Order: sequence, then structure tokens, then C-alpha cells
Amino acid sequence: MVKKMNNKNYNFSVWDVSEVYAGPGGKLWELLMGEQIHVGGSEQTDILAKKIGLDRYKDTYLLDICSALGGPARHLAEKYGTRVLGLDITPEMIKEAKKRTNGKSYEDKIEYRLGSALDIPSKDNIFDVVWGQDAWCYVRDKPRLIQEVKRVLKSEGVLAFTDWIWGSSEIPESKADYLMEFMVFPNLQTLEGYLQLIEDSGLKILEKEDLSTDFGYHMDKYVSILKENKKNIINNFGQELYIEAENGVKAWQEAANKKWVSRGLWIAKNS
Ligand SMILES: C[S@@+](CC[C@H](N)C(=O)[O-])C[C@H]1O[C@@H](n2cnc3c(N)ncnc32)[C@H](O)[C@@H]1O
Repeated sequence: MVKKMNNKNYNFSVWDVSEVYAGPGGKLWELLMGEQIHVGGSEQTDILAKKIGLDRYKDTYLLDICSALGGPARHLAEKYGTRVLGLDITPEMIKEAKKRTNGKSYEDKIEYRLGSALDIPSKDNIFDVVWGQDAWCYVRDKPRLIQEVKRVLKSEGVLAFTDWIWGSSEIPESKADYLMEFMVFPNLQTLEGYLQLIEDSGLKILEKEDLSTDFGYHMDKYVSILKENKKNIINNFGQELYIEAENGVKAWQEAANKKWVSRGLWIAKNS
């Protein structure tokens, strides 16, 4: 059954995703996760940064695909002196990222560009690092995404990303449908599926990791944060959105704890 799930495509377009992030959905995710909208916040950003040695080099040129509010971009520029190009398809996210970056001491290290992960607005062989955190799950054509990554990476450049994936246990189809509809994900990869895409593109895999235990821990945390902020969320966004969010996050909590879903990390190198 899990094989069938892995291949299933859902009818959500990039515009459905943009609508979520331009509206209350984006604000809700920020409330749960912070302005770095991925599991584990700055701690996870530091883990990924250290794994690829960002702390050892200044002025590394990094492309963050699906940069959202620019939380990781600012963290990397400030802490490691990284030069970052943040790419995102939602105009409201780009505008907000720029606003939060303006006036910072490291603002000249960061640029944000509106565009699609499937047609990266960049010349070939430009970046030392291509980076992504918990966002490529929204991108429908993942083989093309990885080919685009390969195209814009310099030779010897590094790909480093985390993403939400199908887990190691079989998931009932109705549960999978609900999870995907709640998140507006068009499809999900698996740990091995991304490995295959990376290898097919010609990049060489250096590391891959299933972070399922940490994923379950964070889903528990997000359910608690939602409940603690129930009044505030209802006041700001209404009862209907709160109920939808609580049901959705609880469904992801169940799925993470049953290992129906997971989160993975991949590091690869261009030849
Ligand atoms: C979960 S957020 C990303 C969080 C960000 N990586 C971080 O760690 O703060 C998802 C973002 O992906 C963007 N996005 C989704 N599909 C995209 C695509 N095809 N191309 C570019 N951006 C996309 C959305 O606009 C949204 O801002």
C-alpha cells in the first residue's frame, strides 16, 4: 500500500500553496514553528550548516529554494557570513522577507527573488550551496527540481536539504488523503526516492538520514502550542480555522508517531 501512496499525485497547484502562505495559514505556521518555518528552527539550520562546513567558510554563495520569510537566510548571513539568494513563489513572502531584512547589519549579503523552484531564475553553475528546509514537499515535479538544482550548482558545489516524506510504515489511503489535503502537498517523496532522484541527476550522495523520531517529537509540540494559543488563534483567525488546524496537526502527529510519515535530510555533491 505504501508504494501506491508514494506515487499518488494530488490536485493542488502552486497557487493553492501560495494562497496558504499569503493568508492566515502562513501566520499560523509561523506561530507554531517560528520565523524559520521548518521543524526544529535555528537548531536544525545550524545542524545542516555544520554538516556542510558553512561555519568554516565566509562568503559562501547559497541558494535557499522556498525561502519564505527569510528566517534561515538571515540566520545564515548573520552567523556564518553566508551570501544568500532566497527564492520563493509567493509575492507576500518575498515582500515580508525583504521587510524583515532591511536595516540589518548583514542586509547586503541577502537578496530575495520571486520565482519558481521548477524554473530557477539563475544562470548555470552559480552557487556553492543549494539549500532547502521542509518546503520541497510543495513542489510537484521533484525530478525537475533536482535537475534544476544540479544546473545552478557550481562544480564541487553542495546540495543540502530536509523535507517531509512518506515514512517506513504503510498508511491507510484515507489517512494519506487527509494529510495531503490539509497541507496542500501535491505529492511526497521517500528517503530512498530522493536518493534516486539525486543520483539520477548526476550528483553524488554524501549523507541521508531519516529524522522520524525528531519529527514525532515536534508534532507533539505543535499540538501543545496550538492548544496553548487556542484563544488567541480563535480571536485572530476564527473558530473554523482553529478547528481545521487542530484536526490537521493532530492527524500529522498520529501519522508521525506511527511512522506513516517522516522527515529526511540529504547532502550531495556536484562532480
Ligand atoms: C514551509 S515554507 C518554507 C520555509 C522555509 N524553508 C524556512 O525554513 O523558513 C514553504 C514556502 O515554499 C514556497 N513555495 C512553494 N512552492 C514553491 C515553488 N514551486 N517555487 C518556489 N517557492 C515555492 C511557498 O511560497 C512558501 O513560502
